[in-house]
Amino acid sequence: MCGIIGAVAHNNVQAILLQALKTMEYRGYDSAGICVVSQGKLQTTKAKGKLVNLESLLETTPLTGHLGIGHTRWATHGVPEVRNAHPHQTQTIAVVHNGIIENHQTLRQQLEEKGANFTSDTDSETIPWLWQQELNNTSDEEQAFLSMLNQLEGAFAIAGVKANKGQRLWFARRGSPLLLAKGKQGVFVASDALAVGTAADEVAYLKEGEWGWANSQDTQVFDPDGNPVDIPWEPMPEMVAASSKGDYDHYMLKEIHEQPRVFSELLHAYAADKQHIHFPQAAFIENDPLPSRIIMVACGTSYHAALTARYWLERYLKIPVEVDVASEFRYRDPVIGDNTWFITLSQSGETADTLEALRLFKRQTPQNKTLVFCNVASSSMVRESDGVIELYAGPEIGVASTKAYTAQLLALALFSLKLASDNHALSPQDTASHLQSLYVAVDGAKDLLDKPEQFEPLTPLFGTAHGALFLGRGPCFPLALEGALKLKEISYLHAEGYAAGEMKHGPIALIDKNLPVVVLALRQYHLDKVISNLHEVQARGAKVILVTDMNEKDCPDNVDALVHIPEGDFFSAPLLASIPLQYLAYNVAKAKGTDVDQPRNLAKSVTVE
Ligand code: AGP
Repeated sequence: MCGIIGAVAHNNVQAILLQALKTMEYRGYDSAGICVVSQGKLQTTKAKGKLVNLESLLETTPLTGHLGIGHTRWATHGVPEVRNAHPHQTQTIAVVHNGIIENHQTLRQQLEEKGANFTSDTDSETIPWLWQQELNNTSDEEQAFLSMLNQLEGAFAIAGVKANKGQRLWFARRGSPLLLAKGKQGVFVASDALAVGTAADEVAYLKEGEWGWANSQDTQVFDPDGNPVDIPWEPMPEMVAASSKGDYDHYMLKEIHEQPRVFSELLHAYAADKQHIHFPQAAFIENDPLPSRIIMVACGTSYHAALTARYWLERYLKIPVEVDVASEFRYRDPVIGDNTWFITLSQSGETADTLEALRLFKRQTPQNKTLVFCNVASSSMVRESDGVIELYAGPEIGVASTKAYTAQLLALALFSLKLASDNHALSPQDTASHLQSLYVAVDGAKDLLDKPEQFEPLTPLFGTAHGALFLGRGPCFPLALEGALKLKEISYLHAEGYAAGEMKHGPIALIDKNLPVVVLALRQYHLDKVISNLHEVQARGAKVILVTDMNEKDCPDNVDALVHIPEGDFFSAPLLASIPLQYLAYNVAKAKGTDVDQPRNLAKSVTVE
């Protein structure tokens, strides 16, 4: 989603802004722009499409100055056009914004009546005009900024600059993430630590409602009432070689291949002795009794990971585990009650719907405990939850989640095993045996990834396809949903994931020779029944791709492609079965020539609802 950068730099700021925007490209965007304060004047350059378009404009006409803001836009209000790209400005104020200003229509009408001359279709343009109006009312700059913020409804992260004097970089955060950073090159605001990871040594994460300004000598932060607050600077976390694809063609491919290392690190973090599982940032899991209900809420791929965990948790804990997509949970008046744990899952920790679902839960039942499975330690969800299970997957740049998803699965498997073991649903020996199987899966994943040529025969089956179907039972059902989502996201081919037993209740009508069907048939999950479903689709002329851990001699004849994966147990099997699905989506997308790492219309971190 939109990336924001603002900088007060010791040297010329243009290169810093561009570099920061480049590192935030992965978030997804459709246009970009920067504004530099040059000898007291605002100089702005914007371009539609990829950053190279902006770069080539700036090569011809560079901007010079030490104070500036930049933005990559992911359209919410108004089509992707230069006039809708940020920064938005009046003659003397320029602003970049992430989020949605919900009362923008009312504000726009009021401002236009007073002479504001809007040039875009965006909600964001209300901000500079409103700020300008407040500055006309008072000479107190801080008061004007706060008064402007108090009139905005909705979610936002804002960075802004003013022409003429002061050389101040203004910023505010409500609902959308924003951080401050400082170092040898200057002071920055950014929506993502990656953006300033090489330019700054220290970082401070703004809290809800905080705002302030920075210049080359000083940085001031205020709470929503305008009281000064201390800035909790902390060392900038090491940015794990995320900014390079290495020898890989795409970040997604690199991230697929990182999975064995991620699995290994996660296992060593939480179950190093292969006997016991411990989550140091979630003490209540050990200290509190098992609740009578668990609710899990997430979006997209993270939601699929939660669905898989429901099979693991319910089998051993014998308590109801409810799983919901965050955008539904938060608006359906959920009945929560006491003695319930609320679990969110999120790669980014900033997904607006999931974050708001967490806040709703906390407001309704503050006595209940909240836990987040998250890949970004500094994220809002981490800071607002009682317990945290970090995923340690390292920055995930490809928009399509791969390693963060399987890290979620593995962390959820460990969480399920821990609860089962602590509550005597599994003996210490059985727990150790399942842990061993998870450790073995690290090598299984390595073996699969060492032979990527085995996935190649699948791609031609999708050449003339009008869609694809993914089928599985038990924990392979959410895996089927995830396989279909991955294919849709990056190859733009329509795909459906279905519970294999549900297929004959509708989707079977779709089957013809141009609808490849991916059947996930694992020994752990109702193998015979899945194989019967496979025969049903085969009998109707579908091309069948079988992903299985069966012995080859037992596999059904005449499948169009067979991917053999190492055998896993009840917990480890989905980790291994995920890899062929990721590779399949990647290969099909590559063959179609789509933008694998930044697929159209998608954003990495969906910070608006
Ligand atoms: C995954 O490939 C998708 N890009 C998307 O579904 C994603 O999982 C979803 O937006 C949730 O994101 P989160 O995990 O950061 O909360």
